[in-house]
Amino acid sequence: MHRREFLKLGAVASGTFLVGGTGRFGSFLDAPKEIPTTDRLVCTNLVDNIYDIFAKGGKIGNLTITRNTLPHPYGSEVSLLSEHGLAFHLESFRGAEEKQILLDFALTPRTLTNNFKGLKVDPATADALIISHGHEDHYGGLPELAQALQGKAKPGLTLYAGGRDTFCHRWVVQPDGSKLDYGELKQGELEARGLKVVIAEEPTVVAGHAFTSGHIARITDFEMSPPAARLEAGAVGSACDASFHFPPGTVKMEAKPGDLVKDIFWGEHATAYNVKDRGLVVISSCGHAGIINSVRQIQKSTGIEKVHAVVGGWHLAPYPDELIAKTVAAMKEINPDYLIPMHCTGLRTIMAIQREMPEKLIMPSTGTRVVFGT
Ligand SMILES: [Fe+2]
Ligand SMILES: [Fe+2]
Repeated sequence: MHRREFLKLGAVASGTFLVGGTGRFGSFLDAPKEIPTTDRLVCTNLVDNIYDIFAKGGKIGNLTITRNTLPHPYGSEVSLLSEHGLAFHLESFRGAEEKQILLDFALTPRTLTNNFKGLKVDPATADALIISHGHEDHYGGLPELAQALQGKAKPGLTLYAGGRDTFCHRWVVQPDGSKLDYGELKQGELEARGLKVVIAEEPTVVAGHAFTSGHIARITDFEMSPPAARLEAGAVGSACDASFHFPPGTVKMEAKPGDLVKDIFWGEHATAYNVKDRGLVVISSCGHAGIINSVRQIQKSTGIEKVHAVVGGWHLAPYPDELIAKTVAAMKEINPDYLIPMHCTGLRTIMAIQREMPEKLIMPSTGTRVVFGT
């Protein structure tokens, strides 16, 4: 690609970030569509980094929380496994209608399959699948699951991804220069196993009950994608074209296919529900786009201000205290009723939430079921 062409593409990317979700990346308000409302959402954390059998459950405010404890006698049932990864089962109700969505698929098929059994979740009853972004700790169990569902899944079972870059090869470059392979989810393999893949760059209704954020505009000046994250450049014009993944406003030399370029997680998206009489439940996964940006994007695209809960990863574990403080302050301003910080959020952020908003904090744990709504 010529440099002039790259700069033109860079300007397009930059404009999209600056305008905050209008323009190319629209909202429900641009082209009025009905924003689905559900009476109740039952969110099961199938797999998370944390497994704490002493985390508080029961009735907390207007939530009902069921914790998973060890089987008694031990060994009589499947015990849950925990690992660096995330997976959810989302079951929602509107009147007599019930829908089930699987969001993200942990790091290993072994853990995901084990916890499906332990939590008595049958993946064959899923109405839709969502993948948040192309990191292995979120898609790891998906290829095997797609294989296991062949001939058993509901007809036309669809996987929603937030951008074509979900299917690019990911890497992490360590400070000493060594590279960690973060994997590549192969769209063709999933399709060959019978899944339909939809790239949802715009806010998209899923299974008639949930919706995705579409591309998340970067509106805060303190949130950032992980500095060590890299994406393997693909051919010019492809989803992994390097020019698409340089941060807006930066000037870079043209990259050749195979080069590792900074990963800005262009196609990462969040999932949300609008729960009747409660408000938005926003579910981030890694939160590389910024947890505040993610919540703001969902608010902006729906025109709904009230946030009932923020669930999922904030990706602040590796970041300095100053960034944690700014994020927690911005979340305090949004003022959700509940915060369930998981996965890559990190202990220092959980402690900051406990200091600043103790009444909102619900501790995460693998196997937890939270009922939002009536
Ligand atoms: Fe993650
Ligand atoms: Fe990630």
